[in-house]
Amino acid sequence: MLFASPLQAEISQTPWSDRALPPDQRARLLLAAMTLDEKLALVHTRFGTPFRGHPKPDGAMNSAGFNPGIPRLAIPPLQETDAGLGVTNPTSAAVNATALPSGLAIGATFDPDLARRGGAMIGSEARAFGFNIMLAGGADLTRDPRNGRNFEYIGEDPLLTGVMAGAMIDGIQSQGVMSTLKHFAVNDQETGRVMLDSVIGEQAARESDLLAFEIALEQGKPRAVMTGYNKINGQFASENPFLIKDVLKGDWRYDGWVMSDWGATHSTENAALAGLDQESGEDLDGSIMFDAPLKNAIQAGRVPAARLDDMVFRIARAAFASGSIDHPAHSGGAIDEARNASVSEAVARRGIVLLKNDKGRLPLPRTLRRILVIGEHADFGVLSGGGSSQVVPIGALRLPGDPPGKYYGQPKLYDPSSPLHAILREAPGAKVDFLDGHDSVAAAQAAHDADVVVLFAEQWMNEARDAPSLALPLNQDRLIAAVAAANPNTVVVLQTGGPVTMPWLSNVPAVMEAWYSGARGGDAIAAVLFGAVNPSGRLPITFPQTETELPRPAVRDPESTTANPGEPLKGEMFSVDYNVEGPDVGYKWFFRTGHPALFPFGYGLSYTRFSTGAVTVTSRHGIATATFDVTNTGARDGIDTPQVYIDSPAGLFTRRLAGWQSVALRPGEKKRVSVAVDPRLLARFDVKDHCWHVSKGRYTVSVRPDAVDTGPSTTFQVSERDLRP
Ligand code: BGC
Repeated sequence: MLFASPLQAEISQTPWSDRALPPDQRARLLLAAMTLDEKLALVHTRFGTPFRGHPKPDGAMNSAGFNPGIPRLAIPPLQETDAGLGVTNPTSAAVNATALPSGLAIGATFDPDLARRGGAMIGSEARAFGFNIMLAGGADLTRDPRNGRNFEYIGEDPLLTGVMAGAMIDGIQSQGVMSTLKHFAVNDQETGRVMLDSVIGEQAARESDLLAFEIALEQGKPRAVMTGYNKINGQFASENPFLIKDVLKGDWRYDGWVMSDWGATHSTENAALAGLDQESGEDLDGSIMFDAPLKNAIQAGRVPAARLDDMVFRIARAAFASGSIDHPAHSGGAIDEARNASVSEAVARRGIVLLKNDKGRLPLPRTLRRILVIGEHADFGVLSGGGSSQVVPIGALRLPGDPPGKYYGQPKLYDPSSPLHAILREAPGAKVDFLDGHDSVAAAQAAHDADVVVLFAEQWMNEARDAPSLALPLNQDRLIAAVAAANPNTVVVLQTGGPVTMPWLSNVPAVMEAWYSGARGGDAIAAVLFGAVNPSGRLPITFPQTETELPRPAVRDPESTTANPGEPLKGEMFSVDYNVEGPDVGYKWFFRTGHPALFPFGYGLSYTRFSTGAVTVTSRHGIATATFDVTNTGARDGIDTPQVYIDSPAGLFTRRLAGWQSVALRPGEKKRVSVAVDPRLLARFDVKDHCWHVSKGRYTVSVRPDAVDTGPSTTFQVSERDLRP
């Protein structure tokens, strides 16, 4: 036998094996050789695991999705793995991999290069396991801070989300692995996620959720887009012609393929004609929509044969372009766990946000004598989020006696990076005691005798389940209040899936948001606590004072709805009216309503100080650029993230983030920064003319440390124009 595998032997003999040909042409050659049944076989995928009595499909790798490919034509299987924070198959727990910090932590870095590195790291692991598709690229806006999946997403701003999600996708795909961008679109809550209609006007959607996807698409060029479970304006995302055909493939000229979410294909003709290219998780769909029913629809002329050809062409072209046919991934590739964990740690260090630091209580001196560490499993590791994105790390802890999660059947998992041990390493001379915090009276008593208390508070969030409120669960507010009353040197470290309320805030001197901090989160947290790392994370999401300030103060009881695909629906489909806030998600809503946030979007403290010089605006080829100097006026090295905001004339829109730049500065050092403004951020989407329209007038550009605080500003004149591609 001359060739390593029969598949390779065959491809070398096919016309589409010629790597010199463009992917389009290779895909066309392949398509011409396919039978109708072979085409149909490529447009639906099933679980790559045993499922409801069916054995694992031959050749599948125990993962979320599998398609056998076309062996006769030397097309390898599609091996799809979750998800955006690392390789995982939570339903089988067969895979142990390196976890990145949560999406919000990645968003908080405001650092696309780091996001790209993180993406490349998880992409390299996917490839080493033998996967060629990563179900990553979560880019839904955190429209509701209680959304159970916010920890998979980047934040509330479309520019930040698009840039950072795009960078992650780019990183993943740099490893020859295809990535999705998901969940398209306005899939902004989990309660009733399979029976929810997201109601939103076109202009509002274009300027918020859709803009995030548009930018992520431009930056990341994902090979595939995954639609959401929800309806948008009355039609399921997977069969929504406006979303898929008009916007994604039409206006944005998307040339990859569109797959449904798992068990979210509800029809054959409607879905095919709306532009869906592949049915995913077909095992959940009752019957397979894109198999025999699609064949019948084509033979009866209800779906043009050319539509099926287009589906196959898109998948094949992506596979050729990504290299996954020419250089297939094989399981058993080398993984440098230490190196990969250090990438995760770099993200965690940048993403931790220092929220409060009265009288410079942090960083903690290494000379402390008695430290008390309190918190659930803070002796073992750092919390992670649940659901299909749950990475199972090596040696992860399942809470003893904790029932498996109700919605995904999963336990609560901690990445084994112990904050307690990391604190011991940072302060080797100190006596460090540990309590799990279950007994608040005992915790308060022990707190009396400590020089400093470091209290870890957590909020476990999950796919398929929204938080019932923004309060920390499990009486932790009471624990914090009791400990803070006993010891005024109490530092609170939050490990949350999103914003929480802080009724004890005025009683503690320091608070740090560590999110879910990934494979080396404990080390990253201790490094920030003791000043080995100067905090530089910025909030990618507003922290409200209370739920009453939100566009929807109360949420529907999750128990009265179905959240899992493939289950009988409880009650009626229902809608959520996102026109309440429309495009004004997060900080924009807080502007509109005048509510002061607890901590605004973009906010984050440092152990040094920065100052920003006057801002000037220049305009070239219709692109405005803001230029200013940033100086480190404090005594430590640090990273500043000055943010450029635009205010419009005559209330055309509320303040918008228009760009930012991270700058690393030594004490006394000054750097000049230029930030170009995407013209869409000066524009409104004109639904009649079907394009972005910039209105004439004087716009204000300001450079601020966050969306609310003041900073240098200037105005500049803009002339009227339409932005057409
Ligand atoms: C989730 C997707 C995920 C898929 C496969 C769905 O329930 O919404 O994000 O990629 O399952 O596990």
